Amino acid sequence: MLQKVVRSTVIDAPIARVWAVLRDFNSHDQWHTVVEQSRIEGGERSDQVGCVRNFTLKDGNHIREQLLTLDDRLYKSTYCIVDATVPLQRYVATVTLKPVTDGNRTFWHWESTFATPPGMERELRDMVAQGVYEAGFANLRRHLAEGGDLRLPDSSGQAMPLALPVSTRRVVVAQYGGAEQLQAIEDQAPAPGPGEVRIRQRAIGVNYIDIYLRRGWIPPMLAPGDTPGMEAAGTVLDVGEGVHGFVPGDRVAYLGPVPGAYCSVRSVPAAWVVRLPPAVEEATAAALLLKGITADYLMRDLGHVRTGTRLLVHAAAGGVGVLLCAWARRLGARVLGTVSSEDKARVAREHGCEQVIVTPDYQFADAVRGHWPQGAEVIVDGLGESAREQNFKALATCGHWISLGQASGGLKPIDPDWLVQKSATFSRPVAFDYVATPDALADRTQRLWAALADGSLGQPLIERYTLDAAGDAHARLESRRSVGSLVLMT
Ligand SMILES: NC(=O)c1ccc[n+]([C@@H]2O[C@H](COP(=O)([O-])OP(=O)(O)OC[C@H]3O[C@@H](n4cnc5c(N)ncnc54)[C@H](OP(=O)(O)O)[C@@H]3O)[C@@H](O)[C@H]2O)c1
Repeated sequence: MLQKVVRSTVIDAPIARVWAVLRDFNSHDQWHTVVEQSRIEGGERSDQVGCVRNFTLKDGNHIREQLLTLDDRLYKSTYCIVDATVPLQRYVATVTLKPVTDGNRTFWHWESTFATPPGMERELRDMVAQGVYEAGFANLRRHLAEGGDLRLPDSSGQAMPLALPVSTRRVVVAQYGGAEQLQAIEDQAPAPGPGEVRIRQRAIGVNYIDIYLRRGWIPPMLAPGDTPGMEAAGTVLDVGEGVHGFVPGDRVAYLGPVPGAYCSVRSVPAAWVVRLPPAVEEATAAALLLKGITADYLMRDLGHVRTGTRLLVHAAAGGVGVLLCAWARRLGARVLGTVSSEDKARVAREHGCEQVIVTPDYQFADAVRGHWPQGAEVIVDGLGESAREQNFKALATCGHWISLGQASGGLKPIDPDWLVQKSATFSRPVAFDYVATPDALADRTQRLWAALADGSLGQPLIERYTLDAAGDAHARLESRRSVGSLVLMT
């Protein structure tokens, strides 16, 4: 028969602080006095589901335990014994934290089930209940009271104050170059500074700008050794001085003009951050935030898209493309898309394009003129130099050419005397400038979530990768085979 042990207590510390210790599967030799020494096998992260901690107890026993689940939203983890010199069989334990509503305290529930050899039930139940759980409660209380979690030894072995550094997995660009230059490393995420929010990231949006940065096309934004990534979604871990409106446990997303999002824990200015509606999952938020806000400003601020607007969208099955086409169509625009394959054409049609031009080599102007003899009133161009002449040919008189990006190569300077032939206007916008104030950010995200909820954006298309596979995600995006948005999951 399976034995069950259940214990709980209240710890006089905020949930984020208690969780920061407990979620680290290898922290127990720092705070639990029965544990002599512990290490994670195989160089894995100590918060990686599946990792195995290999530890010895002060009484000489030896145990290997595996992390089975870790949920930062529910503050819950589950683990089991893989093998042990103590006769606990089929041992599975769960740790759950909940914030105590009265005061900044934490309710900690610890329970397990296990089998024992006949006759040892009571002895082992008592050992787990008192020797492990109740002693653990007292030990962690002492550890926190002594600031053990706030101090790490420096190189001289002296304890030095550190406000809750948390381990993070980070992807860096080793050198400017191809997708193989993206490498994952272990690092520490320092405590949030004044005005910052530290986020345990679950999903990170991949954007084409990440590729420009990796290639070294915009050196002032990213140096070798730096981390790319402009947006992510996750859960607030803690906040810095002067931050109001966010508390640990809030589900949030952000976008910002300084790269660094390809990691598992990151501090960012609170001004970049928005709360997630309950219905929006982290992966959806990371897939939509930057690209959806881009679609919003393209239509409202630059394209003035309304019923009947003739809109030409390149890469119409891509991340920005599907959102823009679907949303513009919902607003009554007429939408023509270009894509490089028949498969993508089907996706673009399903997302609002009335006609799709399949052209891997940027030959679309005649087809646009065949469909709309007067040309396109608004062109959203993420292609760049290779589509330059064709875009001008496809553009209507008084049309607006929006140079959004340069997937095919940087657009050479545009001569005003060229534009004057069509009284054309040209813009070269950047999304971050359209969410530069809290009001603008709130306004645009509110519209984005509403559009998601009422179906204006269609079903989000998301290709998921692990954070460590960021290079695969980049290779896929560059290969022109991806559809919709790519997201890295931590
Ligand atoms: N300025 C801003 O505020 C802002 C914000 C977001 C995105 N952007 C820009 O918007 C564009 C789309 O971004 P995204 O992240 O959503 O990417 P994406 O559209 O999902 O991927 C890029 C697409 O560009 C097309 N493409 C054409 N020639 C290419 C080439 N030589 N190499 C690679 N791809 C090529 C491909 O579609 P086909 O194979 O179907 O042609 C490819 O799928 C990019 O130019 C990006 O820089 C700008």
